[in-house]
Amino acid sequence: MNNQNQLYDIGVIGLGVMGKNLALNIADNQYKVAAFDLDEHKVQDTVQQEERERKQYLKQVTEPRILGCNNLSEMLSKLEKPRVLLLSVPAGAPVDGVCKSLIEAGIESDDIVIDTGNSLWTDTVEREQRYNKDFLFFSCAVSGGEVGARFGPSLMPSGSLTAWNRIEPIWQAIAAKVDAKTGLPIERFEPGNPVIEGEPCTTYIGPAGSGHYVKMVHNGIEYADMQLICEAYQLLNQGLGLSPAEVGDVFERWNQGSLNSYLMEISADVLKQADPLTGAPLVEMILDKAGQKGTGLWTAVSSLQIGCPAPTIAEAVYARAISTQKGQRQQLSQLLSGPNEMLKLSDPQAFIDQLENALYCAKVSCYAQGFQLMAMQAKEQAWQLDFAEIAKIWRAGCIIRATFLQSITQAYQQDSKLENLLMAESFAKGLSDKQNDWRIAVSTAVMGGIPAPCISSALAYYDSYRSATLPASLLQGQRDYFGAHTFERTDKPVGEKYHLNWSSDRSLNKV
Ligand code: 3PG
Repeated sequence: MNNQNQLYDIGVIGLGVMGKNLALNIADNQYKVAAFDLDEHKVQDTVQQEERERKQYLKQVTEPRILGCNNLSEMLSKLEKPRVLLLSVPAGAPVDGVCKSLIEAGIESDDIVIDTGNSLWTDTVEREQRYNKDFLFFSCAVSGGEVGARFGPSLMPSGSLTAWNRIEPIWQAIAAKVDAKTGLPIERFEPGNPVIEGEPCTTYIGPAGSGHYVKMVHNGIEYADMQLICEAYQLLNQGLGLSPAEVGDVFERWNQGSLNSYLMEISADVLKQADPLTGAPLVEMILDKAGQKGTGLWTAVSSLQIGCPAPTIAEAVYARAISTQKGQRQQLSQLLSGPNEMLKLSDPQAFIDQLENALYCAKVSCYAQGFQLMAMQAKEQAWQLDFAEIAKIWRAGCIIRATFLQSITQAYQQDSKLENLLMAESFAKGLSDKQNDWRIAVSTAVMGGIPAPCISSALAYYDSYRSATLPASLLQGQRDYFGAHTFERTDKPVGEKYHLNWSSDRSLNKV
């Protein structure tokens, strides 16, 4: 490969944590990579890491698998045509900055540029149109963080099918893999030794923007799932007086059952970690102000915009927001009264079991919200989303990977038109059986003064959907009263509007 005329299979632009690891993952799968970053130290770091790993794990390979480039023109000259370029740069202006530089550097119209960042899906739709004269703009949302990028992420590609057909073999090679029989991830975290067997966690999602939309909802579900686990922690820690490590033990046990997930596993690990500085539980030394990069917020905004109920996802974003108000929380903790003592429970172990069931139900509810949101947006955009495939590619590699996704896959395989996951027989039964424990967990939290916004809102979603009648009738009456906004009647055809003359003779008029 030291041959000057050697051409490379793919260019990776942006060698931060994700870009560097994707480049190494691609190289491990026998594709030759040309790599570039504006920061030359990152280029050197990537090239050096490839060399270290090659020498340690791939003794028979003598030639470098990654070429460090000094600029984009050099990179373009080193790539096999038509070229494939993967962008791993921050969402927003940097994506357009690189696209512009690529045009200046001489990119050609049949070259493919793949945005793998966390871009806003509407930006992706717009970019495909903006750049289509200059090159094929394609997008692929990536989940799995640093380790996923390195050893197998979940990949959500969307856009031009021509582009997809060309990159699909690389994508299938680098994606996380699932054992087809068990539906469980096949994990191997060793450089130079990628997982080649199993079902790859990538599938063509649909037209431009759909992949980023699906990833955005994945992140919204992730926000809710994380917050649910945090609420369970607070109930066990503050409510029952279990130490962080003891809650970690409970979570490890739960991780053996229906709550098995990557997020549950890492939460147990975090809770059992001692602070290297003080020896105290690390979680007690971490400031309780949550950060966010915005994808959960985008999901909540999108749900509000299209009128799709996703209250638990929105609550998770609000929970992060309220956590940042540390000063006000400290002040109000002295001012506002409420129960402060530990929960007085006759059988704490029974409560732990009830909380496990509550968490399972809340989790189903928040996944139902996420999938319903994707379905409603797909209808608006005329995307043909395959939800069984989407659940399948989330079974490994991504942050919300969980055994539970196998059941979601099966639910959509049985009925691809399923309107709401709560309607799937298996989930409807599971929730009906466990819902009483969910209510006990919510009421215990409420009576104990422990906030559990996600566990509670997930239950309100469930109860709202099992209510054939809601008080929206009164709400329509209120709207008609003050704004003459009209209402439909239960005994007349849908679409027929009525108004009552509230301020005069109270006669009813068909409008
Ligand atoms: C990521 O994109 O890194 C995470 O999936 C979400 O990040 P956040 O919690 O910082 O928003």
